[in-house]
Amino acid sequence: MGEVLLKAQGICKAYSGITVLDHVELTVRKGEVHALLGENGAGKSTLMKILTGIVKQDEGSIIYRGEPLWIHHPQEIQKYGIGIVYQEFNLLPDLTVAENIFIGREPESRFRGFINDRKMNRQAEEILEQLHCRMDPTQKVSTLSVAQQQMVEIAKALSYQCELLIMDEPTAALTEHEIQVLFSIIRQLREEGVAIIYISHRMSDLDAIVDTVSVLRDGHFIAKHRYKPELKDQLIKEMVGRDLVQKYPPRPAYTRGECTLRVQDLCTHKRLKHISFEAYQGEILGIAGLMGAGRTELARALFGADPIEKGEIQLYGKKQVIHSPSQAIRMGFGYVTEDRKRDGLMLEQSLKENILLSSYERFSRLGMIQDGMADKEADSFIEMLRIRAAGRSQRVGRLSGGNQQKAVIAKWLCRRSRVLLLDEPTRGIDVGAKYEIYEWMYRLAEDGATILMISSELPEILGMSDRILVMSGGRITAELDAGEADQNKILKYAMSQ
Ligand SMILES: Nc1ncnc2c1ncn2[C@@H]1O[C@H](COP(=O)(O)OP(=O)(O)OP(=O)(O)O)[C@@H](O)[C@H]1O
Ligand SMILES: [Mg+2]
Repeated sequence: MGEVLLKAQGICKAYSGITVLDHVELTVRKGEVHALLGENGAGKSTLMKILTGIVKQDEGSIIYRGEPLWIHHPQEIQKYGIGIVYQEFNLLPDLTVAENIFIGREPESRFRGFINDRKMNRQAEEILEQLHCRMDPTQKVSTLSVAQQQMVEIAKALSYQCELLIMDEPTAALTEHEIQVLFSIIRQLREEGVAIIYISHRMSDLDAIVDTVSVLRDGHFIAKHRYKPELKDQLIKEMVGRDLVQKYPPRPAYTRGECTLRVQDLCTHKRLKHISFEAYQGEILGIAGLMGAGRTELARALFGADPIEKGEIQLYGKKQVIHSPSQAIRMGFGYVTEDRKRDGLMLEQSLKENILLSSYERFSRLGMIQDGMADKEADSFIEMLRIRAAGRSQRVGRLSGGNQQKAVIAKWLCRRSRVLLLDEPTRGIDVGAKYEIYEWMYRLAEDGATILMISSELPEILGMSDRILVMSGGRITAELDAGEADQNKILKYAMSQ
C-alpha cells in the first residue's frame, strides 16, 4: 500500500445549526482509488468542498503530504496538485470548451497578455481525444448535452498534473462506453501513483476500479474497508442503515392495455429519423442506447420542446400537434428531464413549491389553495423518497445533488401524468430511494399510466421494462420483449447503424 497522502480528522460542519458532518475522518493513500459511499445528503460533497477550500469546516484538521492543508481560495488547489470534478458542474456556459478547460491558465501567445487560441484549442483537443471524446473545442459549453458537459469537467481536471483527483459522481451523466473509457484513465492514473477519491451511487462502478472504501451515513463516519466485491451487501447496509435485499420490487401482474401513444415516422431536424412505435396503458417501455443515440431528443420531441419536421403523434387514437411543453402537460404528458438543474427546478423556491408546481389545481377549491392538503401531499413525498431537508419550506438550491433530483421526481409523480417520460430517473439517487422510485413507477403503471423510461443503466432497463426500444443514430434499431432481451443483445443493437 502506498504512503498516506491525505488525512482528514474530526471534521465537523453545520449549516444554520443543522449538523451535516460530525467528526468525520478520511485517509487516502498514494496510488489508490478510494470510494466514498453514502446516501443522498450523507455529506460526501460537503466533505469534498472542505478538502478543496470551497467550504470551511467548523472543526477538524486536514493533513496533506504530511503538512496541514490551508486553502484560502479554491483556485489554489492546483498548486497543491489537487483536481476535482464537481457534482454540480462548474462550467461557464458562454465560454468555449477549450476556454473552460484552461480557464485561468490559458497558454500565452508571443505577445504577452494575449491568449494563444490555436495552442489552447489544440491542447484541449488532445485531452478530449484521450477521453475518446469527439468535440469541437471552439464550441460554446451552453450548446452541449449533459454528458458532454461532464466530459469537459473531466477533461478540465485531467488537464494538469495532479496527485489527488476527486471525482464527485463522474459517471452519473455518462453511458456505458464513456464510463469504460473513464475507468481505463483512472486505472492509468493509479499506476502513476495518483490518489483518487471516487464518489458514486452506481455500485456496479466499484468492482472495476476501487481499492478502498469509506462509508458515511447521516454525517457520520461509519466504516472503512479494503474493497472486495463480496462486501457490496454489507456496504449497502452500512449506507442505508438497514437490510436491502432486492434491487427491484416485484412487478405486479401486467396485462397490456389500450394503445395510449402511437408515433409514426417522426423526424426532427436535430437527429431523429423515421421513429415509429406504440406504447400502451400500464406499460413501462424502456428506451436504451448510447450517448448521442437520440433518446433525449425523442423525449423532447414528444414533449413539444423540439420542433417536429415530419411525422405524426397520436394520443388515445387522436392525432395531436404538440407545439410547446405547456401544451404537452395539458394533454397529460410529464417529463423528468436529464438536465434537472436547467429544466427541472426553481432553485430559489421551497421544496414544497417545487413538488406541487405542476399539480396545484388538484389542491385548489374555488381558486383557493387548500394549504393543509397541499402540505400533507408534499410531506408524503418527502417522506416516501426520503428527501433529506430541514423541512418542506427549505430552498431546493440548498439540497444535496441527489435530493434535488428526488424533488424533480416527486414533482412529476405528484402530477400523475398519463404519459410519463423519464430521462435517467434514478441518476445520482442512492440505492434505497431508487427502490421507492421503482415502486412508484409500478404503482402509476397499475393506475393506467404509460411510462417511457430512458436509462443508460442496462440492469435498470432489464429490471424494470415490459418492452425495450433500442436506439442508435437517431433511429430505433430494435424492439425487444423483456423476456428476450439481455445486455449483449441491447448493446449489439445500440451499436448498430
Ligand atoms: N449551503 C447549504 N446550506 C444548507 N444546507 C446545506 C448546504 N449545503 C449542503 N447542505 C446540506 O448538507 C447535507 C449534505 O449535503 P451533501 O451535498 O454533502 O450530500 P451528498 O452526500 O453529497 O449527497 P448526494 O449523494 O445527494 O450528492 C444535505 O442535507 C444538504 O441539504
Ligand atoms: Mg453530493
